[in-house]
Amino acid sequence: MNAVLDVQEFRVRYGHSEALHGVDLQVREGELAAVAGANGAGKSTLVGAVAGWSRGKVTVTGSVALDGVDVAGLAPHRRVAAGIVLVPEGKGVFENLTVEDNLRLVRAARDARGRRYSVEDVYAVFPQLKERATKKCSTLSGGERQMVAIGRALRAAPRLLILDEPSVGLAPRLVLEVLQHIRQLVDEGLTVLLVEQNVRATLEVADRIYLLEQGKVAAEGSAGEMRADDRIAEAYLGGLRT
Ligand SMILES: Nc1ncnc2c1ncn2[C@@H]1O[C@H](COP(=O)(O)OP(=O)(O)O)[C@@H](O)[C@H]1O
Ligand SMILES: [Mg+2]
Repeated sequence: MNAVLDVQEFRVRYGHSEALHGVDLQVREGELAAVAGANGAGKSTLVGAVAGWSRGKVTVTGSVALDGVDVAGLAPHRRVAAGIVLVPEGKGVFENLTVEDNLRLVRAARDARGRRYSVEDVYAVFPQLKERATKKCSTLSGGERQMVAIGRALRAAPRLLILDEPSVGLAPRLVLEVLQHIRQLVDEGLTVLLVEQNVRATLEVADRIYLLEQGKVAAEGSAGEMRADDRIAEAYLGGLRT
């Protein structure tokens, strides 16, 4: 199968301290791949470096290819134009603007198939945003805010949508709701790389999972393989295999 994203030997250093120690990761066409792991494992570092973002003094080595084309040397906005769209953790909306303005402010791009996501298309994905169209984002629930952030990212016509902890801070009921919306987008043809701290919830929706521990891939496999792995059951699922 074709890899939409192919990351090899990825190393990221902050000054003299290495946070990512040679990570290999692929996201295949039309799948929901996930990077799961504890706080501080290096998940945001990984996806930030894939998107070309850097906070502070960051050194990145290794290769990043989108559809077989090397993008490692490209500035962040060029990677967005190439189709790598990252929704960073806890960001992605303008609190003081209405839902509709948040969506309209992104200039709609066309994806590889020539498809555009109009504001109405985003409302079709997230009907409850239409009801809230004229409300300021600051008045929305956490789940609705995530929907706006994802909707904004869709307007940019991602080839690869990367979501960094979209469920952070949400009530358990909303976590599954947001993750199921993401699953639905993948079922409709989108390719997604999801970052999650919640391994159990990730196993519910993802096709394949990379488990990141201390800057390294500790395990990888299909959701089924990972669920059947005793080490994962013990360390992340409270010993209970589901
Ligand atoms: N801007 C930064 N400068 C220095 N160290 C950082 C920076 N961002 C993250 N780190 C360190 O890199 C490691 C991985 O962090 P991070 O990628 O944010 O993990 P995660 O997203 O999995 O919680 C942590 O040890 C963190 O302290
Ligand atoms: Mg993080």
